[in-house]
Amino acid sequence: MELSRHEFELFRDYIYSICGLVIAENKQYLIRQRLEPLALASGCVNFSEYYRKVTESSLSGERSRTEGPPETKNRFQEQIINAITTNETSFFRDRHPFTAFKECILPMLNDRVCERKQRQQSRKGPKVRLWSAGSSTGQEAYSLVMLIKEYSENAGRENLFPRIPVSMEDFVILATDISTEMLARAMAGEYNDTEMKRGLNPERVNAYFKKQGKRWVISSSIRSMVEFRQINLIRPFAMLGGFDVIFCRNVLIYFDIETKVRIIGQFYEMLSDKGFLVLGATENIYGITDRFDSVHHGETLFYQKKG
Ligand SMILES: C[S@@+](CC[C@H](N)C(=O)[O-])C[C@H]1O[C@@H](n2cnc3c(N)ncnc32)[C@H](O)[C@@H]1O
Repeated sequence: MELSRHEFELFRDYIYSICGLVIAENKQYLIRQRLEPLALASGCVNFSEYYRKVTESSLSGERSRTEGPPETKNRFQEQIINAITTNETSFFRDRHPFTAFKECILPMLNDRVCERKQRQQSRKGPKVRLWSAGSSTGQEAYSLVMLIKEYSENAGRENLFPRIPVSMEDFVILATDISTEMLARAMAGEYNDTEMKRGLNPERVNAYFKKQGKRWVISSSIRSMVEFRQINLIRPFAMLGGFDVIFCRNVLIYFDIETKVRIIGQFYEMLSDKGFLVLGATENIYGITDRFDSVHHGETLFYQKKG
């Protein structure tokens, strides 16, 4: 199906308005390849007809089939977001941020739990809250849970006095994405051989997964630690409450500077004092905000909200 310059611009602007994704001038093929199957499936003979259908359904308020708050306002919009977003991920992706989480952030969170338990007056309660924003098929959130489980099991065995060891119950983990398709896969917690080979060692495969036919299913002890929700980061999301750690990796790269400023500003407001922000390897906050300290740990860099 041909995509004229005018049609490209219509869809580029529409996509930006619904999910903030910036599609470069030289990426016309992306819209053609990913939206053509949707246009054909909805009985349209060209992109202009499809565009009319999509925008008219937005105006008439046709609802998506997803339950809960309508982050994606209708079925066409939901299908376009599912098709156009890039969902590349893996367990322990890039390794170093997870090493920093285990060696540096988790011990500090342990101290935070102890302090809150001693004070018992924290508004948010003693639990430490983590958020994987733009979680795709869930590997990032599940990797964090595995590290927390391993840390708390070791902490329970070792004498860390005066530090009181944490347990899994001290943590709450939220994972969100805009794509309903990715969220459904993340919630199922089922992975194929290729996905399992990316980032997991044999010990973790044995400890946390069961093979069912061709799929590997994550154990309920890991699965049940994560709450999944659909959240569109270009809309207000402060209603999610406060967090001690936000992982938002390889998501901001798709947005323009105005959108990044708005999102990082909301992250700042939601993070607790000295809360942690972890971005992707190619992402940073330079030119966006100076309200975080940079913390270098090994080969990675993460951010800590200034006190
Ligand atoms: C490349 S994946 C990154 C997954 C994971 N964080 C990682 O680093 O491996 C980017 C994810 O961001 C999600 N995303 C894109 N635009 C979004 C938006 N406006 N709101 C929320 N999530 C969005 C996509 O659906 C996709 O799953």
